[in-house]
Amino acid sequence: MDGAFCFRNGTQLSKLINETAALTRELEDCSHRPAVASLLRLALPHVNTMPPADSTVNEHGYARQMLHADPDGRFSVMLIRWMPGACTPIHGHNAWGCVGVLEGEVGCETFEHKTCETQPCVPEAPCLVSTGKLLAGPGTVATVDPDPCGIHRIFNPTTTPATTLHIYGMDLDDEPEGLNKWYQNQVSSA
Ligand SMILES: [Fe+2]
Repeated sequence: MDGAFCFRNGTQLSKLINETAALTRELEDCSHRPAVASLLRLALPHVNTMPPADSTVNEHGYARQMLHADPDGRFSVMLIRWMPGACTPIHGHNAWGCVGVLEGEVGCETFEHKTCETQPCVPEAPCLVSTGKLLAGPGTVATVDPDPCGIHRIFNPTTTPATTLHIYGMDLDDEPEGLNKWYQNQVSSA
């Protein structure tokens, strides 16, 4: 847990990790996502972060840091810091996920595969149509199902940085890029 981010209260992060490990060990796969979302909702008020170094921000305006990978490969925990104007490529995930907003506000635009010719398609991903946008502030927790559900992009439409905490149901320690399925012709990460 080195680098640009650090928790001022490591106990809360340890508790979140330990309880997530217990849930993913004891519950059926289909129950992990809502149960972990409840844990994350309880933990968010107790987590604080420090700003990242500029060098950690990628070309899309955000910086990731892995915080924990479950030794048995059941889940991973990461922070993402979103600079003003940051925006991920459109993507889906190869695992269930839970996301909580720690500070600032982030937007999320969701997509689905195009089924109606009257709907406007997305130029950079022509088989998809936008299904809406929302803005989420501190304390908000959202969940995402594995691809092909839950296709989205995250962005920071504000003038201040935002930070989010993520838990994904797969081991991302060796290959973080394995999380994402890209729907744009880009090779960077989110
Ligand atoms: Fe995502």
